[in-house]
Amino acid sequence: MNKGKQPLIPVVRCKSLHKEFVIPGQKVEVINNIDLSIDKGEKIAIMGPSGTGKTTLLTLLGGLDKPTSGSVWWDGIEIGFMSNNLLAKQRNGKIGFVYQFHHLLMEFSALENVSLPLVIGGMSPIAAKQSAADMLDAVGLGNRLQHKPGELSGGERQRVAVARALVGNPICVLMDEPTGNLDDKTASDIHKLIMLLVKKFAIALVVVTHDQKLAGLMDKCFVLNSGKLSKKRRSSK
Ligand SMILES: Nc1ncnc2c1ncn2[C@@H]1O[C@H](COP(=O)(O)OP(=O)(O)OP(=O)(O)O)[C@@H](O)[C@H]1O
Ligand SMILES: [Mg+2]
Repeated sequence: MNKGKQPLIPVVRCKSLHKEFVIPGQKVEVINNIDLSIDKGEKIAIMGPSGTGKTTLLTLLGGLDKPTSGSVWWDGIEIGFMSNNLLAKQRNGKIGFVYQFHHLLMEFSALENVSLPLVIGGMSPIAAKQSAADMLDAVGLGNRLQHKPGELSGGERQRVAVARALVGNPICVLMDEPTGNLDDKTASDIHKLIMLLVKKFAIALVVVTHDQKLAGLMDKCFVLNSGKLSKKRRSSK
């Protein structure tokens, strides 16, 4: 309940979001007039067949690409009016990303990969390394700080990616098939870890997944099809 208080502002919100790609001789409408609000600590899954625009939607919500029309707000502030510099700064502080393939910097250690966003955000390198070490410890990699991605297993690399996404205490983490590339047991362990950490830090989560079990752990589940989001009904719960 929020009785007598200001109405809660969604951490991430989009309205009338529309995206079409134009390639020579063809226009592809991918996102068609989508409205979505994500509250603090809320967890949502986005499912749907391949090529329906799930990654595109995350990219727009995360300010990595501009919509053809429509708006996105982070913490009530419309990102479409931000300069590229401000947008990058705000994104670094407010939004975390986890991709299917870790996207870690191969030349850097786990500790450096996780501390980098903090240093970019203005934290001193010593404090950033301490926070990064704590977060890597939280994902069970306290004994792998100096390993480079090439010296880690697939599951460990995704844990580093999760640590990197969460270390700056973002308002929302956007995950694009974070465990799509892993065996069931490793995926399930990482799902538990993700749930534990987003709850602990009250971080909102939007996860694109084909995994029914992971989707079942979320507060809401949507299916993206023909550019539209529809709420998926749960058989139980
Ligand atoms: N930069 C681009 N230029 C042109 N078309 C694009 C571009 N990016 C994506 N598309 C098209 O938009 C559609 C949606 O792509 P998107 O990657 O968002 O799908 P997806 O739902 O994430 O699929 P998957 O489950 O396979 O990852 C696809 O048909 C794709 O060809
Ligand atoms: Mg995709």
